[in-house]
Amino acid sequence: MTNKLLEIVKTESTTQKVIAGETFRPKNPFTRFLETIGLKLRLILEETLLKSQINRFYLIFGGHIFFETLRTACQLDLFTLLHERKSLTREEIRKLLNLEDQPLRIILLGLVSIGLLKKRGDKYSNTLSSHILFNRHSKRNVLAYVELQHHAMYPALHHLLESVKENRNAGLDELEGKGQTIYERLEHNPSLEVIFQDAMHELSIQTNRLLVEAIDLSHTKHLIDVGGGDGTNIMEFARKWPHLKATVFDFPGACSIADENLETHGLSHRLNTIPGDCFKDEFPKHADSFLFSHFFTIWSPDKDKFLLKKAYHALPKGGRVIIFNMMQKDDETGPLSAAVGSPYFLSLATGEGMLYTSKEYETWMKEAGFSKVQRIKLPIDHGIIVGIK
Ligand SMILES: C[S@@+](CC[C@H](N)C(=O)[O-])C[C@H]1O[C@@H](n2cnc3c(N)ncnc32)[C@H](O)[C@@H]1O
Repeated sequence: MTNKLLEIVKTESTTQKVIAGETFRPKNPFTRFLETIGLKLRLILEETLLKSQINRFYLIFGGHIFFETLRTACQLDLFTLLHERKSLTREEIRKLLNLEDQPLRIILLGLVSIGLLKKRGDKYSNTLSSHILFNRHSKRNVLAYVELQHHAMYPALHHLLESVKENRNAGLDELEGKGQTIYERLEHNPSLEVIFQDAMHELSIQTNRLLVEAIDLSHTKHLIDVGGGDGTNIMEFARKWPHLKATVFDFPGACSIADENLETHGLSHRLNTIPGDCFKDEFPKHADSFLFSHFFTIWSPDKDKFLLKKAYHALPKGGRVIIFNMMQKDDETGPLSAAVGSPYFLSLATGEGMLYTSKEYETWMKEAGFSKVQRIKLPIDHGIIVGIK
């Protein structure tokens, strides 16, 4: 009887519970046959599912490897080269980039495997996504963002576990200088500040055209762009609305980059900067619109609510507050961009922000006193929430 029991337990796998001391009643052969078939089917199904998910596992497991493969190709300007030459053999690429064959072979294998290059016969060419995203001639390239990921996000994300356990931006320890946020530390790291502002500029020019298209500033006299960075936003607005005056309110380092840009683009007669800290310094009282673009994701809900109240008090009746950034779905199931973006705010930027839902912003605006709160959906993962005083 014991041998029989062991045999059945073995056949039915470890998932079958054998409770010590339970009276054993032998099953009839037909029941046993059905159970064995059921188990086999389940194992086949599990194997099939696992096989279909294995690529997803490799993408997760090798995320850092694939990213650094991509970054290496970007630094070598391989995607631009392939855009200019249409397609090249490995030997042609090797000669043009002055590389040894084996390292190049490794990089090409990685790029083809993850779908960033196509290989037809012995010729390599760009896929549509690499043509758009990583070729220097493309207006929608994200090359500066790749550099920011490499220089700032990767070292910082090594500290994610610490950040989660201690609820702080432990990744900031990677940066020299004083201050509890990446923005204050950037003031002490001029080369990283340039990489950071370049990436923000890139993000701004690509996403902010949607903001510029969606927001009507025909009746706005003066807009304050809190955390306006290098001035990309206000310059875009000023080009569309020739009557508009606007100001970047940001830290001194960012303001001096913005001042230079405003001067270069001949817009400094209408646009200017006010260096300041939005939590410590007064908001200007002469504006009728406040914009928070890619800004509320940085801070805790309490700080965002504080800033909304502060803007409310600085605005005249009828004045407007505009929030623009990536938003999480109201049911908190994604999108991927929100899941990718949020750990950065925890482990590096401030240790307190994330990508909130549109619903949260709407609630906070109403709590601050704004009425006619409106949600504007955009074709990408960004959203706009507008409130009127
Ligand atoms: C993520 S960037 C957003 C730049 C720009 N608004 C955009 O849409 O691309 C955040 C900006 O907020 C600024 N910033 C951070 N903390 C600030 C503070 N306490 N007061 C004012 N600006 C701040 C940073 O210097 C940086 O330029």
